[in-house]
Amino acid sequence: MHGAAGGAPLSQNEISFNAILLILGGQETTRNATSGGMLALIQHPAERAKFLANADAPEAIEEFLRWTSPVTHIMRTATRDLEIRGRKIRAGERVLLWNAAANRDPEQFAEPDRFDVARTPNDHVAFGHGEHFCLGANLARLEMRVIFEEVSRRMPDIELAGPVERLRSNFVAGIKRMPVRFTPRPARAAAPA
Ligand code: HEM
Repeated sequence: MHGAAGGAPLSQNEISFNAILLILGGQETTRNATSGGMLALIQHPAERAKFLANADAPEAIEEFLRWTSPVTHIMRTATRDLEIRGRKIRAGERVLLWNAAANRDPEQFAEPDRFDVARTPNDHVAFGHGEHFCLGANLARLEMRVIFEEVSRRMPDIELAGPVERLRSNFVAGIKRMPVRFTPRPARAAAPA
């Protein structure tokens, strides 16, 4: 609200756009990393057993992020001519950075197509890279940690109960519908007044 850019206070529009960015940035992304991470655990029982034995391990959250890569790509405009791996890019050209592909790069990750809840190192780019690195990364990590701890505790037998329907989007890698079933835990006794 009180920020300034180029010496001038932010306009009403800039404040509104920043608020929208915060809301949208934290919404589609975190929930798809969470549902996608849950699906990966359900589909990989051995990894799930490992995870349940150590549900607060930070490595698992990073692997959910790498594996799901909810923001599939971001765009940049080149500020100068350059060459990357033999491809010439001219100043002003728009370039797509495919986070999802980078997160399966065999030069970066051993066995990139293996879901490994203990993967280290795990220098994924699910939150982007550089100046615009995700502002909410640590909030998202915390949200996911709490959700996965609670779901593991309360619904240890959660399983698929029907076909998974993916979101039709080339920007957000997500799940539209994922029916699940689990054994409800008995209700807790009410705390004494
Ligand atoms: C798993 C969850 C999340 C993922 C995968 C994710 C992904 C990303 C990515 C890839 C970028 C970089 C965009 C770019 O380079 O242009 C980004 C930026 C951003 N994210 Fe997230 N995000 C997540 C959660 C959140 C949360 C919880 C919030 C806010 C509460 C948030 C707010 C933002 C904002 C404001 C930016 C723009 C930062 C800037 O341009 O300097 N994100 N996010």
